Amino acid sequence: MFKSKLPHIGTTIFTTMSALAAEHGALNLSQGFPNFAADPELLGLLGTFSANGFNQYAPMAGVKELRDQLSLKTKKLYGAYYDPETEITITSGATEAIFAAIAATISAGDEVIVFEPAYDSYLPAIELCGGTPIYITLHYPHFEIDWDLVKSKISPKTKMIIVNTPHNPTGSVFSEDDLTALAKIVADRDIYLVGDEVYEHIIFDGLLHHSLCINTVLKEKSFICGSFGKTFHITGWKIGYCLAPKQLSVEFRKIHQYLTFSTFTPAQYALAKYLENENNYLSIPDFYQRKRDVFLDSIAGSGFEYIPSKGSFFQNLTYRNITNANDAEYATHLTKTVGVASIPISVFYHQKLDQKVLRFCFAKDDETLQKAGGILSKL
Ligand SMILES: Cc1ncc(COP(=O)(O)O)c(C=O)c1O
Repeated sequence: MFKSKLPHIGTTIFTTMSALAAEHGALNLSQGFPNFAADPELLGLLGTFSANGFNQYAPMAGVKELRDQLSLKTKKLYGAYYDPETEITITSGATEAIFAAIAATISAGDEVIVFEPAYDSYLPAIELCGGTPIYITLHYPHFEIDWDLVKSKISPKTKMIIVNTPHNPTGSVFSEDDLTALAKIVADRDIYLVGDEVYEHIIFDGLLHHSLCINTVLKEKSFICGSFGKTFHITGWKIGYCLAPKQLSVEFRKIHQYLTFSTFTPAQYALAKYLENENNYLSIPDFYQRKRDVFLDSIAGSGFEYIPSKGSFFQNLTYRNITNANDAEYATHLTKTVGVASIPISVFYHQKLDQKVLRFCFAKDDETLQKAGGILSKL
């Protein structure tokens, strides 16, 4: 009898809700990907590099031009320098980067602090490495981190803390105080960090992204994982990266080398060229803030309550004033009979904590957002 290493992992809620949305003809605001095209310039660059013969294996660490651009951008935005030769690795999406960072760090018996609600790829990676997740529960509506509580969870076995800002699924973001508090906790300890920063450019209302690399204590201990898929509306390209100090990058690359070895070559050249124009990423906050506001304006007058998302392309809505149903039931009902698909927040907690909150993805064209909002506004 084959023994599963991940016996409790099944089909993800994202697949389930998207299938349900398709079956019932519902507007799909569940899965986190754009339903509009990327910039034709970027798409053209991909074709050009492919047509011009850039189709063989990229270097294991990634195309140099792309690593150079990332190094420049990180220095410019966060004041932090990463050596493109030894400290930047291009991966097959942030998913690979997160997996490789965890696999490089965690051995059997190590503890990893995970804040819930949590993106779903952290836990399987921890478990496959024999690590033990130590959960810290964050609550609606602000989902802030109580750093005293985090400190109380540190044990001699704690090896890693995984943080995600801007945050999926809640739309919360780190402040400078969060970085300072985290740095105090890890400063003199053998604890490493995964900074899941895939939504670094999707942040609103003038807030600044507080990357872990801004804080010098944190920078030395962090694997910062990013994704071009999120920033440039190309989730299907699966190009991400990891920024980490040399000592950590050496170990990270040992894993990356045997997970995928290297990543889709023409896309790396296309992205390197595209990054030369900083406006291509500096314009993203306004682009998505407008989409958030189109969605929120269109649900005005409904029974839903919310705090406007601060970052990511997700908006949480609570339906406490509408029904007492649990969130999974209500998300299913909305998809099947009302015509709008969302994700119940409980699925991001290992104990399926129901707070009567649903996550809606607003990375959709305006027509879809207005239609979905129009339907929801009647509830
Ligand atoms: C918080 C978070 N981290 C990582 C990822 C994965 O990024 P990629 O598509 O680049 O693998 C996602 C994608 O949904 C995400 O929301």
